[in-house]
Amino acid sequence: MADMTDQPLERIPISLLVNGTKRTLEVAPWTTLLDALRDRLALTGTKKGCDHGQCGACTVLVDGRRVNSCLTLAVMKDGAEITTIEGLGKDGTLHPLQQAFIDHDAFQCGYCTPGQICSAAGLLAEGRARDADEIRELMSGNLCRCGAYPNIVAAIEQAMSRS
Ligand code: FES
Ligand code: FES
Repeated sequence: MADMTDQPLERIPISLLVNGTKRTLEVAPWTTLLDALRDRLALTGTKKGCDHGQCGACTVLVDGRRVNSCLTLAVMKDGAEITTIEGLGKDGTLHPLQQAFIDHDAFQCGYCTPGQICSAAGLLAEGRARDADEIRELMSGNLCRCGAYPNIVAAIEQAMSRS
């Protein structure tokens, strides 16, 4: 019987528009979007927390919608537009949410912050949140072990009022 370790690993070519730049790479069928971004494209702003879809640290925008990149296979997003925390600011200027997080001291260790900000950007684009309670509800997939939630909500409220 053939030794499976002798078989070449299958790689699939994909192309992603990441933060406005076309990136092509070859990935294994099981490579998550999170690992493709962090390990292959060196975009380590997106964090790996639970790797099981439970913490939201890996949240990025895919075609403008927030997704947990640890639950998303890279091959399924061939051709998609991806925005990570590195791509939110423009021309050296912080995104309003990044500025609001600074203004409101909305992070402690900062590990959850990229996911929180990407998720909040998706939330604002959805236009569904009208008040602090709805922000809390619609951001409930993003966990913060430091407990910076009140300041996170205040930061998102600030960005929402200015958008
Ligand atoms: S790392 Fe993806 S949800 Fe926790
Ligand atoms: S600021 Fe530390 S996990 Fe959120």
